Formats: sequence, structure tokens, C-alpha cells
Amino acid sequence: MEITVSRKAHFNAAHRLYNKKWSDEKNSQVFGKCNYPNYHGHNYELIVSVKGKINPETGYVIDMGELKTIIKNEIEDRLDHKNLNLDIPHFSNVIPSAENICIFIYNILRNKIDKDFHLNVKLYETPRNFVEYSGI
Ligand code: NI
Repeated sequence: MEITVSRKAHFNAAHRLYNKKWSDEKNSQVFGKCNYPNYHGHNYELIVSVKGKINPETGYVIDMGELKTIIKNEIEDRLDHKNLNLDIPHFSNVIPSAENICIFIYNILRNKIDKDFHLNVKLYETPRNFVEYSGI
């Protein structure tokens, strides 16, 4: 039997969606407001879910305090109040869309969370727009 536990987290960050290979006109057409040259911010909400067996000695799947610390150290401290395009080297060549940010976060956390657990990362860019990635 497996069960899923989730932890919510939050960070604010700025970005600009821009494809270097396109003209300014095409960038503006495709990305609209998200292409504004001077960047704009989002209040990102993150939900990290870990699915696995309950450890009979603790009654836990994973210690939530441990999960909280991993998310804080690896994601919030890295991304909060940053300009994703300028401050995060990964996004110098990858467009910082919600999709790509979600995969970036997943890949960092995947290396920190025991492989026995299934990991799912859900990222809200706005209260209504969110993306989800579980490594497949
Ligand atoms: Ni945006």
C-alpha cells in the first residue's frame, strides 16, 4: 500500500518569456504580456508530493520536517525574489515558462529525495494556471 503526502511552498520571482531566435515582433505576438522587456513577477505556489510506503516505525512516508527543509534549501532559497532569466544560469538558455520551471524544480528535488519514493511537482504560476511534472 502506498500513500501520497504533500508539502506546499511559495516563492516570488520575476521572468520574461523570450525566444532569442525570434524577432521582437514574433516574441510579442507569441508571449504577449509575458514578453515585456522589463520583466514581471509571479507569486509561485509549489506543491511537492511524495508517494511511498508508510514506515511502520514512524507512521510516516517521509518526515515532513525533512521535506520542508529540502524544499527551503534547494528551491525557495535558490528562486525566491530572483530574476529567473538573469540570476539562474539554467534559464540563460531555457525559456523560464511554468513548464520549464516545474521540470527544473523536479530535477533538483529528485536528486535529494530517496529513489524509493514517487515524486510529483505541481507549480502554480497564477491561482488558475498550473503545471505538473512527475518525471515521465
Ligand atoms: Ni509571466
